[in-house]
Parts: sequence; C-alpha cells; structure tokens
Amino acid sequence: MKTVRTIAELRAVLAPLRAATEIGLVPTMGAFHGGHLSLIEAARRENGAVVVSVFVNPTQFGPGEDLDRYPRDEERDSRLAEEAGVDVLFVPAVEELYPEGFQTWVEVTELSQGMEGAARPGHLRGVATVCTKLFNIVRPARAYFGQKDAQQAAVVERLARDLDLELEIRVVPTVRDEDGVALSSRNAYLSPEEREAARAIRRALLAGEDAHRAGAHPDAVARTILAGERRLVADYVELARLNGRLVLAIAARAGRTRLIDNVVLEEEKP
Ligand code: PAJ
Repeated sequence: MKTVRTIAELRAVLAPLRAATEIGLVPTMGAFHGGHLSLIEAARRENGAVVVSVFVNPTQFGPGEDLDRYPRDEERDSRLAEEAGVDVLFVPAVEELYPEGFQTWVEVTELSQGMEGAARPGHLRGVATVCTKLFNIVRPARAYFGQKDAQQAAVVERLARDLDLELEIRVVPTVRDEDGVALSSRNAYLSPEEREAARAIRRALLAGEDAHRAGAHPDAVARTILAGERRLVADYVELARLNGRLVLAIAARAGRTRLIDNVVLEEEKP
C-alpha cells in the first residue's frame, strides 16, 4: 500500500493504475471501524484498485462542534487499510485541499434541507464540496458511502447526477455492533452508561419499522420509544424521502456526543 499526501503525488500514482483497471474510492475521516472496512470490502469486490482518503474535513464542522477532538490515529488506520487490501491511502493536509483563497462551494439545495442540514448548518455543503474535490482528484469508476449517513449519501448521489460526474455512487448497508448500535468513530466518546442509553436509538428504529409494516406512523412510534430513555436527548426523529428511499432517521445526544442512525422503510428498485 502506498500512502500519499499531495494531489500531484496521488495523480502520478493513479495514472498507471487507471490505464490498467477501474478505481474505487472510499472517502473517510479516519478512525476506522467495521463500517469503513465494509465500504473498503465492497470497493475491493467491484474494482481493480482501491483508494481510501483520510481527511477530517474542517468545512463540514460547525463552530463548537468536535473538529478538534475528532479521533485521529493514522498509524492504526494505515495498518487496518493495508490489511484490508487498500492500494493507495490519500492523507492530505488541510492546506492541500483548501489552499489560501479557496472560495468555491457545492450546494445540493433541497436535499440539504431538514435533518442534518437543519441541525448542522453548512455541514452538507462542506461534505458535498470535499466529495466533489475528491471525485475530481481521483476520478474513480465508483465511490462508496454508508447508509448510516442517509442524507449525506443522498446528497452525494444527487450531486454526481446533477454535475454529470462519470462515476457510480454505491450505498452500503449500515454495520452494527452486537447490541444494535451503529458503528461510528464518535462511539469512542461514549461512557459505558451513555453507550447503554444509545441502544434506545436502534430500539426506536425497529419499533418504527414494525409500525410502518402495520400501517401506523413510524415516526410517532419511534419518538415514544426514544422518549423512554431519559439519558438521551432527541435532536430529531424524521420520516424522509431521500432519492428513491423512504427513511426513518434519528439524531440524538448522549451527553456531549451526537449520534445518528436510520432504517430504510421502502426502497425503489433502480
Ligand atoms: P466518516 O464518518 O469517516 O465515514 C466514512 C464513510 O463510512 C461514510 O460514507 C459513512 O456513511 C460510512 N459509515 C460510517 N459508519 C458506518 C456504519 N456503521 N456502517 C456503514 N457505513 C458507515 O462520512 C464521512 O466520514 C465524511 O462526511 C466524508 C464522506 C468522508 C466527507 O468528509
């Protein structure tokens, strides 16, 4: 596995690979867990070469969010990536992607309203911008995103279509721990008690899914279950249509840690 830190170096490394095979890209902010590894596995299955980017993107964090304390461990990530069969790890510095004078933004207007877009102003604009940059730098045949961040995945699908990018966006199912909690780099912040409380998010989603099947209101049912866990503060419980998917999504706080998760209730066949 090669680790590269500049755009020029990455382009040089990718040129011969591109001539020989298709490239799969997995954009991440590092602190790898099973969710990231499942995206890498999917990329490996469908492409001859896999590029993983590790970049804690400052433009998608708001003031007072966890940019400074976001978990960073390049050595561990590098080892896990190598074991997972990654060909190229791209680890740029902030100035490499945002040189002085940077002022161009990608905004997916309607899909960025509500949910994460409302709770974290500017967040999805930062995500859309950095993903567009990574797509242009790597020019992959396919890029991989987790269903865990449902609105993010929908925003990226939409921008690829709207900007006529020549790549396929693949959305990979959410990977969970045995207790049902979705894997997340932010789970590292949770105390044992907060971790226990976090399980209510999954219970609420499953109850919502049952309600939907029974023809009842999934969001109302999920809200009731979530309200039963006093150690969690709900940010939102929302039913949303994101591209072809009907999704029940939850954001909640356990102490200082904000967690999100969702379940797909209906999916249009592409
Ligand atoms: P990060 O949180 O590191 O996540 C990288 C990718 O892993 C995202 O596509 C995310 O949806 C996916 N992922 C996270 N947890 C998952 C889980 N439990 N199961 C399956 N997939 C999971 O999301 C970002 O980084 C950034 O916003 C990024 C897209 C890299 C842009 O900066």
